[in-house]
Amino acid sequence: MLNISSFILIVNLMLGLSQAETPSTKPNIIIILIDDMGFNDVSFHGSNQILTPNIDALAYNGVLLNKLYVPNLCTPSRATLLTGKYPIHTGMQHYVIITDEPWGLPKQERLMPEFFRDAGYSTQLIGKWHLGFWEKDLTPTMRGFDHHYGYYNGYIDYYDHTLHMLTKNYTKGVDFRRDLDPCPQDNGTYATDAFTAEAKRVIEQHDKSRPLFMVLSHLAVHTGNEDNPMQAPEEEVAKFAHITDPKRRTYAGMISSLDKSVGQTVKALSDNGMLNNSIILLYSDNGAPTVGIHSNQGSNYPFRGQKESPWEGGIRSAGAIWSPLLQQRGYVSNQIIHAIDWLPTLAAAANVELPENLKLDGVNMWPSLSGNIEPQPRRLLHVMDDVFGYSSYMRDNLKYVNGSSFEGQYDQWLGDLESGQDDPLSPYYAQQVLSSEVHAVIGSQSVTNERIEQMREEATHRCPLNEQDHLQEIYLCEPLKAPCFFNLAKDPCERFNLANLYPLQLQFLSQEVEQFRQNAVPSARVPISDERANPKLHGGYWEWWNETAK
Ligand SMILES: *[C@@H]1O[C@H](CO)[C@@H](O)[C@H](O)[C@H]1NC(C)=O
Ligand SMILES: *[C@@H]1O[C@H](CO)[C@@H](O)[C@H](O)[C@H]1NC(C)=O
Ligand SMILES: *[C@@H]1O[C@H](CO)[C@@H](O)[C@H](O)[C@H]1NC(C)=O
Ligand SMILES: *[C@@H]1O[C@H](CO)[C@@H](O)[C@H](O)[C@H]1NC(C)=O
Ligand SMILES: *[C@@H]1O[C@H](CO)[C@@H](O)[C@H](O)[C@H]1NC(C)=O
Repeated sequence: MLNISSFILIVNLMLGLSQAETPSTKPNIIIILIDDMGFNDVSFHGSNQILTPNIDALAYNGVLLNKLYVPNLCTPSRATLLTGKYPIHTGMQHYVIITDEPWGLPKQERLMPEFFRDAGYSTQLIGKWHLGFWEKDLTPTMRGFDHHYGYYNGYIDYYDHTLHMLTKNYTKGVDFRRDLDPCPQDNGTYATDAFTAEAKRVIEQHDKSRPLFMVLSHLAVHTGNEDNPMQAPEEEVAKFAHITDPKRRTYAGMISSLDKSVGQTVKALSDNGMLNNSIILLYSDNGAPTVGIHSNQGSNYPFRGQKESPWEGGIRSAGAIWSPLLQQRGYVSNQIIHAIDWLPTLAAAANVELPENLKLDGVNMWPSLSGNIEPQPRRLLHVMDDVFGYSSYMRDNLKYVNGSSFEGQYDQWLGDLESGQDDPLSPYYAQQVLSSEVHAVIGSQSVTNERIEQMREEATHRCPLNEQDHLQEIYLCEPLKAPCFFNLAKDPCERFNLANLYPLQLQFLSQEVEQFRQNAVPSARVPISDERANPKLHGGYWEWWNETAK
């Protein structure tokens, strides 16, 4: 008689599986998700105002994702990452989950951590969720994460971890938990530091015979509560005396803390012998809100618009991916890639099997990223919010915009940085990158001063304003009156509306958008204020308030 383990061994041999392919050698997946950081707020896109040497070192040693697209808002962007689907296919296309609204990412959706957990991974969420909590079984540990340390809503105070809905007559509530339990003992710890310490703890205590799937979902650089939105440690803010606007200076301190966190997280992976079998993906969930709701003074310049707008400033994300498993590293990728792609891409890289009936919108981009393959054209639906009434779509280089958000208030070119406010260390920029904590542990010989300057130049976008041609009436875009389209290859800053010159192309693009509309599911948003959410009723915490499910 054959015992079970020798039977499995024989089956494995027949299937051609070697010991090296047993689950313990699957790569660790580390996703560092940043909140509301502008495209122009990392120094690898050319800005000298806020230097981000650790983040940049990850990009220069890995793949600098120069054309990474994301939904334009927190909740839809996070839903997209975890499902591999457009928000119109999950009901998450309209707005964010307001704290006291009774809805969430529909429970029939299966999420990325579930697939990785089924493949033997330990799955960890640190930080922000924002995919619903009004019912307990919408919360992260009920949806595929073994553990969660962090908060359920869109933002909290960086220090006392409370969320105060100033528009409502509710008490202030703490939104901070370890798994399902309130976690008051970390009151006072700056959120970026609390999440970094937790990431280090998870990495240190991780059972190294298993692979790790960790989403480190920062509060930074989102604002805190509306009565105290900009919060950073004084010593970090003090590094930015060269920035005159006090709000932007505090923002720089928030970025700087975040950059240090990236250094510490990568070092922890190295110290624990995990780095050489890890994939680290870092990106911002959407563009920065330069002005308006939750504005943090971030910059997406020279792109048009900002968070929650149909323009490139809302949907192009600063990002990078690094792994020793990437065959080509140290290059700028101009492949168009979207948050829908991460689930199939990371699953393929880790050899994690996905069910066939998932109906993903994303595709596996791993071969392309790993092989630095010639960029392939894509069609992407960026926004389709039929409640607010605007959409944004792209076929190859042609970009279509119909309608806008907030009556067009964010349709401008925002966040141009004042000159003469460069970091005093910027003349030694490449040296800063080479002496960063991240470079110290992943640094490749081929990443030299010259190579850094070269990649940085390739990833710097300029749209010279001396071309005043766009002010001609024929090029004028008024998306609230009529759809516009742009050729991003020549006009990445969306200054020249070609709709009047090429009406047939415009019609073609709108027909394609209409096809997407035919297959959209209705918005899952329930836009009502449910007073049962009031923290006064839950011991001073934000907590699920409908117990029917469990
Ligand atoms: C707010 O709540 C307090 C205490 O419950 C109550 O006295 C007050 O009238 C409420 N105000 C409004 C505007 O509802
Ligand atoms: C957090 O700590 C501060 C300072 O000790 C204290 O005033 C505050 O009440 C605490 N907050 C909560 C929610 O416990
Ligand atoms: C990764 O590093 C660890 C610790 O230094 C070592 O034991 C292991 O063999 C390395 N694995 C690979 C794939 O290089
Ligand atoms: C463009 O917007 C108008 C006005 O909201 C709408 O009627 C039309 O269906 C939209 N077209 C497409 C293709 O989305
Ligand atoms: C929970 O929500 C359902 C509707 O989804 C409702 O019928 C039920 O009464 C709610 N239960 C509680 C305890 O609020």
